[in-house]
Amino acid sequence: MNEFRPGLEGVVAFQTEIAEPDREGGSLRYRGVDIEELVGRYPYEKVWGLLVDESFEPGMPDPEPFRPANLTGNAPSDLQSALAHLSADWELRKLVDIEPEDARDDLARLSAIAMSIVAQSARVADGKTDPVPDEDVEQGGIAAEKFLLRWRGEADPKHVQAIDTYWICTAEHGLNASTFTARIVASTGADAGAAMSAAVGALSGPLHGGAPARILPMLEGAEKLGDPAQYVKNLLDRGERLMGFGHRIYRGDDPRATLLKRTAKELGSSRYEVADAVEQAALAELKRRKPDRPLPTNVEFWSAVVLDTAEIPPDLTPAMFGCARVAGWSAHILEERKTGRLIRPSAQYVGPAPRPASEVGAAPVPS
Ligand code: COA
Repeated sequence: MNEFRPGLEGVVAFQTEIAEPDREGGSLRYRGVDIEELVGRYPYEKVWGLLVDESFEPGMPDPEPFRPANLTGNAPSDLQSALAHLSADWELRKLVDIEPEDARDDLARLSAIAMSIVAQSARVADGKTDPVPDEDVEQGGIAAEKFLLRWRGEADPKHVQAIDTYWICTAEHGLNASTFTARIVASTGADAGAAMSAAVGALSGPLHGGAPARILPMLEGAEKLGDPAQYVKNLLDRGERLMGFGHRIYRGDDPRATLLKRTAKELGSSRYEVADAVEQAALAELKRRKPDRPLPTNVEFWSAVVLDTAEIPPDLTPAMFGCARVAGWSAHILEERKTGRLIRPSAQYVGPAPRPASEVGAAPVPS
């Protein structure tokens, strides 16, 4: 195919057996299992197993003891740099040189440690310099509880439920930007730490994993104005995008948004009412302005509300997304490794015609 498609929209780059976002029908299945069947029945770490090993057992292991150096409290940066660093610290071998089981084990170690890094970074952001002792963290049950214990030294069961649900809903979603990045790096035969840390970089942007950080301010703005419809109109009139709406794949409802909205209600979120009002106003206004382009509520909108019930600060949401997405990245890195084919698409050159350097500027003075 030689036709140029901006943003690669609609381009099929891979075949995958991992997940199936259902564009029209509003469902999302991991290895064939609907996420509706997973939430509340299997904790995140077992869903990791489903995605990576196609088996709930053994699932993602507990993280090994690790104190990352030089934490800044900026969790995506801390996560990206610590994962890259671990490639060297753990002497990870190149994916191209190892057996599939060893690649899987490297990814399992990195996935587990990602949660520990983010929790420790969040603790630093809270101004605490004393790490929670590992023995205290080990008292916790599921991964979400241990994450909170490592961060705050305590874990409210409602917060655990919010994080576990959020992590399951966002564990994998086909060929999004960060997963594509992870696959590209894996296709070069690099090690698992390099592929994972590159994926974190891709995730940190507001059009991918960073949107929830901008959603709570939107809800607060609408509440302050006291008129959600006018608030969304003002944003759109200023040429801004409404964060949490629109999706490259879904033309119907994003099933994750539906599930997370229900969770926000169940958990008694104090933002539920205003979020519902902003959602209705946004959907109506977007429909009026873009009648031919469905722009449904996406996962990020209700994620922001659910994470808020667990008192997750908006700045931490991209890293929380990273903790969840380690499952999808791991599964895709393994799938990519199996293909053994370097990813190297083409670009259509539309730059200047051949010309002399003098046309660009004066010749440099020889030193
Ligand atoms: N608010 C307002 N307008 C939006 C919009 C939004 N959230 N999302 C898309 N649009 C408009 C665009 O301005 C564009 O209009 P135009 O054709 O007049 O230029 C049209 O809808 C198509 O947008 P496009 O950027 O081509 O869609 P996409 O499929 O490439 O983008 C997103 C998908 C998610 C990047 C996009 O919908 C977006 O920026 N959403 C807000 C950020 C967000 O929620 N990110 C989390 C994603 S899970």
